[in-house]
Amino acid sequence: MAHAFCARLGVGIRLAVAAATATLTMMTARAEPDHAAERARMVAEIEAMYAETRAETGLASMSAAVRAAMGRVERHRLVPAAQASLAYRNHPLPIGSGQTISQPYIVALSTDLIDPQPGQRVLDVGTGSGYQAAVLAEIVQQVYSIEIVEALATTARRALAALGYRNVAVRTGDGYLGWPEHAPFDGIVVAAAAPRVPQALVDQLRPGGKMVIPIGAETGIQYLVLVTRRADGGIDERRVLPVRFVPLVPGAERAAPQR
Ligand SMILES: C[S@@+](CC[C@H](N)C(=O)[O-])C[C@H]1O[C@@H](n2cnc3c(N)ncnc32)[C@H](O)[C@@H]1O
Repeated sequence: MAHAFCARLGVGIRLAVAAATATLTMMTARAEPDHAAERARMVAEIEAMYAETRAETGLASMSAAVRAAMGRVERHRLVPAAQASLAYRNHPLPIGSGQTISQPYIVALSTDLIDPQPGQRVLDVGTGSGYQAAVLAEIVQQVYSIEIVEALATTARRALAALGYRNVAVRTGDGYLGWPEHAPFDGIVVAAAAPRVPQALVDQLRPGGKMVIPIGAETGIQYLVLVTRRADGGIDERRVLPVRFVPLVPGAERAAPQR
């Protein structure tokens, strides 16, 4: 199955140059990878992408909280061992089951767009590797994360526990339906594309809460969309960036009846 990109489009050349530079630096500097230094380089690359995309996103730079979280989360411990040496490249990587860990820039941007604060409770749809959940868990009080592929949910739950994240709950299920038992959420991050904003997720946002979600067809144009729930229950939507994500696939409860 083809791997999805979950990435900002149109930055291939810049990323290839950055990746080659990072590889040369690693080869000349040391035999053992210094993950803190690699993370710092990755954070600097993400900052450069924020500056490049400022006009579209409205964000000139990472917030201090997101920058610190991106500098702390051990991405190399959330990807398969075969991908660990590539973990601090600013691009998606395969994680098994035909899925990917999202590009770090997209994870940082999605986190900043919902403006997470200490003490808050957020929903993460599409756990994948658990990386987005870990970044959120560095900032907020509690993260609820839903993954439809059981094998991925199990691996992510174990990896997050091994990293010491006690404020992330992971469950297998259809994230399109949210996690109503823990609603309302202050923020929601969705890492798979839906044709339109799911009403169940809007219903689980508190008034003033923000959701970031890729909207569009699997093979067509998709945009990362920022949704803000108004006090009257309606929503405001803003297109942020063109992106490419895997689809938010329907679980058993949403699937069409089979004959
Ligand atoms: C781009 S990957 C997620 C990356 C992830 N946030 C990370 O940090 O590694 C998208 C994930 O969404 C999951 N997914 C797709 N449809 C889903 C659904 N209806 N409910 C929950 N997860 C879903 C996929 O299985 C996949 O793991």
